[in-house]
Amino acid sequence: MSTAAASADNTPGAADRPSRPIGVFDSGVGGLSVLKALREALPHERFVYYADTAHAPYGERGDAYVLARSQAVARELVEGHGAKALVVACNTATAAAIHVLRATWPDLPIVGLEPALKPAVAATRTGCIGVLATRGTLASRKFQALHAALAGQARFVLQPCDGLAAAIERLDTPEIVAASARWTVAIGRFGSEPGQIDTLVLGCTHYPLVSPQIAALVGPQVTLIDSGEAVARQTERVLRAAGLLRPPQQADDCVRLHASGSTATLRYAARHWLGTAVV
Ligand code: DGL
Repeated sequence: MSTAAASADNTPGAADRPSRPIGVFDSGVGGLSVLKALREALPHERFVYYADTAHAPYGERGDAYVLARSQAVARELVEGHGAKALVVACNTATAAAIHVLRATWPDLPIVGLEPALKPAVAATRTGCIGVLATRGTLASRKFQALHAALAGQARFVLQPCDGLAAAIERLDTPEIVAASARWTVAIGRFGSEPGQIDTLVLGCTHYPLVSPQIAALVGPQVTLIDSGEAVARQTERVLRAAGLLRPPQQADDCVRLHASGSTATLRYAARHWLGTAVV
């Protein structure tokens, strides 16, 4: 796929860009955790959500695969749905593709995700932070640079969670509990004593959807941190700076969902987690 610069303004009626939807995508249902925060922070905006369910999960595939899928999905949102901005609601896709997406659409606000290491440094009291994320995210250069920049400020224990996003994608509760237990046991001891992990970063957008199960495993002294609210605030900032906020009006309490594979699980998950009408 070409990575040449393309205009984000190439559809008729560019003057009404503020009223266009914000495109949000993930490999599957995980980005709904980000969409929830976006809808709370930006109640007047319209959203179109794309789940690449036919190709999920991304986290255990190579960078080239995730990059190609991210390009295809972003193109669908920008050119097919006229998105005025993109939120890459996936840590894995952000690490593999955001630089290429920004080069492709230089005029389009594009917000990505990274595991919330900085907020975790601010929150920890023991100085020990666990990070749950996909294999792809933890292996990425982007994450390694973030980790290296903060390594002097806390001890980070990094844990790839193979199979957890896939179990969440299938809404398979026994498998979700089994995978969460496996990876939280593997990461080490949790608690508020010196040397114990007191802060756990949910570095994949799927994981906040099962935070009650994860919280039950690690105990009440542990603070779980995800990136949803920070990304929603950043999206608000970049839309404001670009003059693209939709003027206040009656909220369009309906989310448009699209998927490359079956939408049945996605619709169920959206009703369950967003508590709203979906189209
Ligand atoms: N939800 C995505 C992330 O934040 C990807 C999960 C997956 O597809 O493996 O990393």
